[in-house]
Amino acid sequence: MSHDNGGEAEPWLYSSARASCAVLTHVVCAVFTGLTAVLSRPGTSLFSWHPFLMTLAFSLFMTEAILLFSRHGSPVKKYPHKTKGRIHGILQCLCVSCATLGLAAIVYNKHLHGKAHFTSWHGLVGVLTVCVVVVQSLAALPLLYHSLVKGWSLAKLKRYHATSGLITYLLGSVSLYLGLCSGWFTASVGDTIWYLAALCPVFTALVVMSQVTNAYMAKKHLQS
Ligand code: HEM
Repeated sequence: MSHDNGGEAEPWLYSSARASCAVLTHVVCAVFTGLTAVLSRPGTSLFSWHPFLMTLAFSLFMTEAILLFSRHGSPVKKYPHKTKGRIHGILQCLCVSCATLGLAAIVYNKHLHGKAHFTSWHGLVGVLTVCVVVVQSLAALPLLYHSLVKGWSLAKLKRYHATSGLITYLLGSVSLYLGLCSGWFTASVGDTIWYLAALCPVFTALVVMSQVTNAYMAKKHLQS
C-alpha cells in the first residue's frame, strides 16, 4: 500500500512512521514547555520568566513554526503554501519576542544580584542564539519583499533561509539543553525527569533536521 505524494508514491509504512513521529514531536514540545512552566512558575520571580519564555520561544513557537511545513505532521497541511508562510512568520515573531524578553529577564535579574554576565557555556551559547534568531528573522524579510534584494532568485533565498534556519534551530536546542544542565534545573528535578527532559531538545532537533534536509537541501528542483 502506498500514498500518493505529489506524483511520488511513498511506502505506507514510511509515511505512517513519519506521521507518528511528527505527532510525537508536537506532544514532546508541548509537554516540555508545560514542564518548564510548572517548575519555573512564571511570575513568582524575575528569574522564573527566563526558563519559561525561552522554552516557549524555542521549544514551542520555533518548533511549531517549522513543523507546519512538514509533509507528514503539519496541523495546517491542507492550507496553501502562502498561508503557511504567514503563520510561520507570526510564530517566528512570537519566538523572537519571547526570546528577547527571556534574555532581558535573566540579564536584568543578574544585574540586580550583582552577578557577572555570560560566564557559563549556557549564557554564551544562549546570547549567541538570541542574536542569531533576531538576524535570521530580519534576513527573512526579502522572502516577503523580494524587491529588497537584487540578483537573488526566490529559490536561492529560500534555500539559504532554510539552511540558516536549521542552524538557528540547532543553536536553540543546544541552549535549551545547556539550560537543563544549569544548577537551577538539576536541583529542581530528579534523575529520571532530567534524562527525559534532556531527550526533548535532542529528539525535536533530530526531527527538524530530518524534515529540513529532506524538504530543501535534497531537492534538486530548488537548486538554481
Ligand atoms: C534557547 C533557550 C535559552 C537561551 C537562548 C538562554 C539564554 C541565556 C543567557 C544568555 C543567559 C546568561 C545571562 C547573563 O549572563 O547575563 C542565561 C542564563 C541562565 N539560564 Fe538560560 N537560556 C535558554 C533556556 C534556558 C532554560 C530552558 C533554562 C532552565 C531550564 C535556563 C536556565 C538558566 C539559568 C539558571 C541561568 C543563570 C546561570 C547562567 O548564567 O548560566 N535557560 N540563559
